[in-house]
Amino acid sequence: MQIISVNDYDELSKKAYDSFVKTMNSLENPVFGLSTGSTPKGLYELLVQDYIQKNQTFHHIQTFNLDEYVGLAKEHEGSYYYYMYERFFKPLELTEEQTNVPNGLAKDFTGECEKYEQKIQNAGGIDLQFLGIGVNGHIGFNEPGTPFASRTHVVELTESTMEVNSRFFETKTEMPNKAITMGIESIMDSKEIILLVNGEHKAEALKQTVEGKVDEKFPASVLQNHPNVTIIADQPALSKLN
Ligand code: F6R
Repeated sequence: MQIISVNDYDELSKKAYDSFVKTMNSLENPVFGLSTGSTPKGLYELLVQDYIQKNQTFHHIQTFNLDEYVGLAKEHEGSYYYYMYERFFKPLELTEEQTNVPNGLAKDFTGECEKYEQKIQNAGGIDLQFLGIGVNGHIGFNEPGTPFASRTHVVELTESTMEVNSRFFETKTEMPNKAITMGIESIMDSKEIILLVNGEHKAEALKQTVEGKVDEKFPASVLQNHPNVTIIADQPALSKLN
């Protein structure tokens, strides 16, 4: 694991942006794995700025999001599709063929999970996967205890994740209790992974990720087994590392 230490969130977003652009410009058909939440917002803003200023073209990229809530339509403001559409897909004028988010309203979830895995394979696998981390160590929505051998699947969200993520919903009752997520093995198949971590509230999770035992009880610890992982973290997040 390589760790890049940055001073603040702006620097973290800039470093993530540099990696995105490097991969985008070095491959003919780059495939990106993307996450939602607070952490990657700065990265997406920088990429959109670039597109508006005509510094980059994005017509040759393909994206796969890690996860989606079960039960939310694309148009729901709390859905991850909506988040991605407003911040990334729409401003970059990406086509539907270029972007992929699991369908939270699938009639047949087993079929949807298999289809998602197949689409990733057909695209040639993920070249660069961006990850955030939950305070409980989840990556994607793979909560503690998820088998390392898991592929895309439906999960029950933990109370702690529901509590943390309910900030994106008007009322707590709107917060879904299930999600569809790429599995740990699906994430580990990515050729390169960049984990973004900022803030003191993530310091313990980052310590466990880097220095803890590799254990299904702490999903992000699996990243120690990946040959090409970079962690970009700010000082507060790094504060508990030895
Ligand atoms: C979201 C995802 C989650 C988040 C994690 C951190 O697509 O996969 O694993 O990355 O919950 O969320 P934030 O960035 O909001 O702290």
